[in-house]
Amino acid sequence: MLVRLKIFRYDPEKDEKPYYQAYEVEADSMDRLLDCLNRIRWEQDPTFSFRMSCGHGVCGSDGMRINGICGLACQQLVRGFKGEVLIEPLPVFRVIKDLVVDLDPFFEKYSSIRPYLITKSSPPDTERRQSPEQHSQFEEALRCILCACCTASCPVNQNQETKDYVGPAALVRAFRYLFDSRDEGEEERINLLDQKQMVWGCQTLWKCTEVCPKEIPITNQIGQIKRRIYEKKHGR
Ligand code: SF4
Ligand code: FES
Repeated sequence: MLVRLKIFRYDPEKDEKPYYQAYEVEADSMDRLLDCLNRIRWEQDPTFSFRMSCGHGVCGSDGMRINGICGLACQQLVRGFKGEVLIEPLPVFRVIKDLVVDLDPFFEKYSSIRPYLITKSSPPDTERRQSPEQHSQFEEALRCILCACCTASCPVNQNQETKDYVGPAALVRAFRYLFDSRDEGEEERINLLDQKQMVWGCQTLWKCTEVCPKEIPITNQIGQIKRRIYEKKHGR
């Protein structure tokens, strides 16, 4: 089948402003959009820039906006599209070149939630143990591959006035540690998350949950963080 794509292009070093370029790629119906992008780069236009690595929904590097919805190019079969496919960089982030965006602010926010186990007790002789039930509390959050699709789709992050909101991806990771039975930093985590630009920045708009390629119940998990904070602060 012939796949027609309209792709956002911008090289700040030589383009005055962004523009869209049309391409046509001959593809098998079981090819993914990522295969088409690779073919464009290899066979038609070596100046076209985008990120990819694993090709199988694991590394999270090929997040982009596809027909207006953020997702992974490696997880979308071309046969699922009719007509021209519009490919754009993730919104919210500064464009470095074409589909490559500056994710430093994303990872800075991610780091700000202390994405590691906080422990205070002496290490046990063996590993810190956890039952399957305790593990299942946060297992879904472990699927996150930090693709940034959720944060890029969040209207709160898209709004210039509220762009300091830490964003859903960071909160998924905060949930992962707050609900881990081995973590001993609950008090610090609650105090950190109990802020306007942290968990209370979420307006429960569900856009993050709609786009997550790993089907993580993000809004639900953010809601659980809010509930935990409320219960701790009000002694319930
Ligand atoms: Fe991507 Fe989902 Fe993780 Fe957000 S929660 S960064 S959409 S995998
Ligand atoms: Fe790794 Fe798509 S290329 S997730």
